[in-house]
Amino acid sequence: MSEEDLASFLSQTRITDGNTQAPAEQKTHKFWATQPVPQQGDLPPLEDGCIEPSSPRDQVRQEPYPLPKEFEWVTVDIMNPTENKEVHDLLSMHYVEDVNASLRFKYSAEFLRWALTPPGYVKEWHVGVRVSANKKLVAFISGVPMNLRVRGKEFSSSEVNYICIHKKLRSKRLAPVLIKEVTRRIHLEGIFQAIYTAGTVIPTPIAVCRYYHRSINIPKLLEVGFTYVPRNSTAARMIRTNKLPDKPTLAVRPMEERDVTSVAELFARYMQRFDMVPLMTLEEVRHHFLSAQGTQDEGPGRKTGQVTWTYVVENSETQKITDFFSFYSLPSTVLQNSAHDTIEAGYLYYYATDVAFKDGADEDGRLKSRLETLIGDALIVASQAGMDVFNALTLMDNVPILKDLKFGLGDGYLNFYLYNWRTAKLAGMEEEGGVRAGMGVGVVML
Ligand SMILES: CC(C)(COP(=O)(O)OP(=O)(O)OC[C@H]1O[C@@H](n2cnc3c(N)ncnc32)[C@H](O)[C@@H]1OP(=O)(O)O)[C@@H](O)C(=O)NCCC(=O)NCCS
Repeated sequence: MSEEDLASFLSQTRITDGNTQAPAEQKTHKFWATQPVPQQGDLPPLEDGCIEPSSPRDQVRQEPYPLPKEFEWVTVDIMNPTENKEVHDLLSMHYVEDVNASLRFKYSAEFLRWALTPPGYVKEWHVGVRVSANKKLVAFISGVPMNLRVRGKEFSSSEVNYICIHKKLRSKRLAPVLIKEVTRRIHLEGIFQAIYTAGTVIPTPIAVCRYYHRSINIPKLLEVGFTYVPRNSTAARMIRTNKLPDKPTLAVRPMEERDVTSVAELFARYMQRFDMVPLMTLEEVRHHFLSAQGTQDEGPGRKTGQVTWTYVVENSETQKITDFFSFYSLPSTVLQNSAHDTIEAGYLYYYATDVAFKDGADEDGRLKSRLETLIGDALIVASQAGMDVFNALTLMDNVPILKDLKFGLGDGYLNFYLYNWRTAKLAGMEEEGGVRAGMGVGVVML
């Protein structure tokens, strides 16, 4: 395949977790205009910090916000299989779709349990709305704790995610009530900042990233219309071009309990490269990278209920972990296609390599080359785990390696937001203030 063919093929690959980017928003935001977030037209702050001060607990509103009388608030127990399934079912039918309404995220029950129960999670931050008459769950929003460093400042924060309203209840201004209620419950725990992402533009993104997709199972992706055979090419040629080696290049092995400390050290040091990053304790490292690797073997490359794959490279002399990568499984339901009902998608999660700490390795290309090999191995492991496609965003050190690893530009954008925190724009899909594209953002949201 010529470079031109490849570019054309890659540009025709499409999947997204959200809406395409609207041009600079000029519309009014009745709700967001009242919230402590940077507003349209605000200048970059002279100093980073909160927008409104924290309140003592007794000054936080104690009663839930009022709901229309047919509905009631509930705290969802995500560890309870019945309630977990209710959230899973709500999201499976009503959560994020791509622009063409041909794919919808399908978070598994295991995924939701993992994502919503990191160390220190607060049950009350898993907020549901039920119809009072029949107790049907019709809306959901959640928060989990996350300590953040944004540029030079560290603070306790919450990661707010999975807002979802039943399709029949849309455009009734229920979303602001959900957001205010989860915010109230987060305030009650003494936390006044949040991080969240959306495909849509609201006031005001602190970073924007783009999705890239690496096709793995070409025949299936063609059958579901996820990708197309470009002019001047054939399906056979696409299969050949995208074929992955049978075995990883590096001596990678699945992460184990004994690796937790070493992975945590490597991760913390590596993440100093980026402007906005999570700060993880050993327990958080264990939870995020190790706790969701499934139970018994299901088939080659995948265990029952497996959500994450974390692989490490160990120095055999020092027993130190020199590199690791991880990715998670988030399938999408294929809507209106008779041949397939699901696309298996792997998403690049966190990674690190100690090559970054060697003098000059960034400048002379050694770091890029190591990352290409490392993430190339992630693609091989993902392929063995049955992923049809592998997705990544323009964050961390991804930007320079995506093209060489045959990722194609998607049509989805992901906007990053901070609640009650001011900071200048961070480098996501584009360079910002001399910081290379991607390196402003070191948070991967699930
Ligand atoms: C996102 C969703 C909950 C919004 O509900 P809705 O019924 O469309 O919107 P409502 O009428 O209740 O509320 C509109 C307000 O919520 C805001 N809003 C909508 N989606 C939002 C989001 N993802 N994050 C934050 N605020 C959002 C709007 O900007 C608007 O406020 P504004 O007037 O200040 O601009 C709903 O469309 C949904 O469930 N979509 C599918 C799942 C999804 O996309 N989730 C978001 C993932 S980031």
